[in-house]
Amino acid sequence: MMNESSSPERRIFSAKERFGGELVILGHHYQKDDVIRFADTVGDSLQLARAAAANKSAKYIVFCGVHFMAETAAILARPGQTVLLPESDALCPLAEKADRLLVEDAWSQLEGCMSPERDVMPITYINSEADLKAFCGTHGGSVCTSSNARKILEWARDRRPRTLFFPDQHLGRNCGVRMGIPLERMPLWDPREPLGGNSREELLGAQIILWKGWCYVHQRFLPTHIIDARRRYPGIRVWVHLECTQEVVRLADDAGSTTDILRMVDAAPPGTKWAIGTEENLVNRLARAHPEQEIHLLSPSPNNCITMNKTTVESLARVTDGLLRGELVNPIHVPEVVAGPASVALQRMLEASG
Ligand code: 13P
Ligand code: SF4
Repeated sequence: MMNESSSPERRIFSAKERFGGELVILGHHYQKDDVIRFADTVGDSLQLARAAAANKSAKYIVFCGVHFMAETAAILARPGQTVLLPESDALCPLAEKADRLLVEDAWSQLEGCMSPERDVMPITYINSEADLKAFCGTHGGSVCTSSNARKILEWARDRRPRTLFFPDQHLGRNCGVRMGIPLERMPLWDPREPLGGNSREELLGAQIILWKGWCYVHQRFLPTHIIDARRRYPGIRVWVHLECTQEVVRLADDAGSTTDILRMVDAAPPGTKWAIGTEENLVNRLARAHPEQEIHLLSPSPNNCITMNKTTVESLARVTDGLLRGELVNPIHVPEVVAGPASVALQRMLEASG
């Protein structure tokens, strides 16, 4: 049995050795390098949701990421599997921009203008707590990630004339623009205002109603950062995450999910110059993996997601030490009344995104 005075790294390796395939560590791309080195699967939120759903042998799934990701894994887990989150207060501030009460209030206000069950498809970004996924499951809707958001918004459009998309306005707007929807048909829903700050006519003319939420990490990238990067590094290609504002996405060469960004860089020829607008850990890791290219962070550092960065080797070791002692540290439990309908919404997403 490993002594808890050994280094956290040695204790984590010892737990991996002791549990073999019964212990799986998942790591989101935005985690720090010293944490990511322990991950059995590294990915974006869609890949990690799939990895959690596909794993049949693991008894313990340790999720190095933020709370909604671990909760999603717990909803998709099989009976007998336990998901553990090293930092229990690693919350995503974007996910906190909408909650069940506010969304139910919006839904009942929409009932004053239309029949939402027939006319409005609720879609939640995976960056949301489980009860919002459950809301979507109950009302015919689904979930999306930044990798499949456009596909899921098209799925919604094919079923109901309007979509209520929460909580990230930018992802919804950027995908809506790619679908050819004019900006005026994507009104913003401010939960503090009656009718979200819109007229009845604006809502009736809407194709996507965008919740007023944002990610502070991605909203920080500005058009001036792109203009500066192009001036400083002639020939540079600018790639940004779809959670950036529409103005930034419009000026960039392209935009996508974290995986889209990784694929673009992996496929580029030596000498390609990039300015990348997403979380700093991922950009720095890409720069180290591709010394044959020139990779810059789009805006000056720091550009970290503070809550993603809460997870440390020590907090991961606390979870694996617990397992070695037979204790569950920070298990994620989603009550069945929420997990059932949330899983319906997630399954719709997994089926629709192929
Ligand atoms: P991905 O879906 O690209 O992994 O993004 C998750 C996230 O939190 C981005 O800020
Ligand atoms: Fe949430 Fe933004 Fe952090 Fe992603 S980067 S986890 S959206 S706060």
